[in-house]
Amino acid sequence: MTDSAKRATIVGLGTYVPPRVVTNDDFSKTVETSDEWITQMTGIKERHFVDGDTASSDLAALAGKVALERAGVDPPDVDMVLVATSTPDMFFPCTACLAQDKVGAKNAFAYDVSAGCSGFIYGLVIAHQFIAAGTIETALVIGAETLSRFADMTDRNTCVLFGDGAGAAVVQGCDAPRGLLAYHLGGDGKLGDLLKFPAGGTKMPASHETVDARLHYIKMNGRQVYANAVKAMSDSTLRVLEKAGLSGADVDLFFPHQANIRIMEAVAERARLPMEKVFVNIDRYGNTSAASIPIALDEAVTQGRLTEGMLIGMVAFGTGFTWGAALMRW
Ligand code: ACO
Repeated sequence: MTDSAKRATIVGLGTYVPPRVVTNDDFSKTVETSDEWITQMTGIKERHFVDGDTASSDLAALAGKVALERAGVDPPDVDMVLVATSTPDMFFPCTACLAQDKVGAKNAFAYDVSAGCSGFIYGLVIAHQFIAAGTIETALVIGAETLSRFADMTDRNTCVLFGDGAGAAVVQGCDAPRGLLAYHLGGDGKLGDLLKFPAGGTKMPASHETVDARLHYIKMNGRQVYANAVKAMSDSTLRVLEKAGLSGADVDLFFPHQANIRIMEAVAERARLPMEKVFVNIDRYGNTSAASIPIALDEAVTQGRLTEGMLIGMVAFGTGFTWGAALMRW
């Protein structure tokens, strides 16, 4: 990154989570689990689920409108809308186009970023590239997920982990020393089988058999995902710090993807970051995949914990596998 090029920075954030709260005790009435197990193993206490026909584009648009209002940007002035999601409304049109229409960003081009839980960081980096190249001025980058639709509510291994919600960021250019300092993105498709949504695509089109075999739900090897997440998120964090010539001690506030409190603790330890610097809200939202980091950023700003001049780190890992880390001067 040259010092003369514009860097991406976040000028407004917004969150939307649906009002219905589902607690661990609610799950213990339908599957063999307990509040104690879920809390100890994941850190999750409750999550939000949609009702009716609410879809990811609805959540995306509601979060996006708040972010634009806070940034003081009129929707027609947005140049690009990216929606990072693994739970699109449908295969096509893309969720970003549906959200673009709902927020009134009528002059923007729009497309989805399918990078699992790492999608928001991928989206931020894509926005940065367009801004640094001088192609666009304003991007709306949204992480939006309706995971309750894809979680098998009879499978205790997965159903308790996820939550619905959206977080949105208005991204514009700024000059050094503010903005995106460094980033690192990675992937490994060899491990894709460990976390997947098997049916409904071109490999296994929807049929009565796929529905009967419950193949239209998330399938996951939790242990393997856990181990790979800790390794990739730690490595990515250390790599991005090295790229910027910084260490964990320089980071003021750290935003790991909210998948599991134990993953966050392990990553923080390896990156030599005390837990006081780690932003945690998984207890109230569960794993909202691509939405987790922008929701966390928004909460940190609202709570007054994230203020101008701070150095923040973000890191995520998700299906693919994909991973990524970024450092930003707020
Ligand atoms: N309640 C009670 N028992 C449960 C539950 C539950 N909700 N879920 C699993 N168990 C049981 C299992 O059935 C198993 O029982 P058994 O020994 O009788 O077979 C036992 O707990 C241990 O299961 P493991 O899967 O081996 O437990 P593990 O220590 O790996 O913890 C967990 C499971 C919490 C899911 C962990 O693997 C994890 O968090 N993995 C990461 C998953 C993740 O975050 N995925 C999201 C997408 S990717 C990402 O966001 C990073």
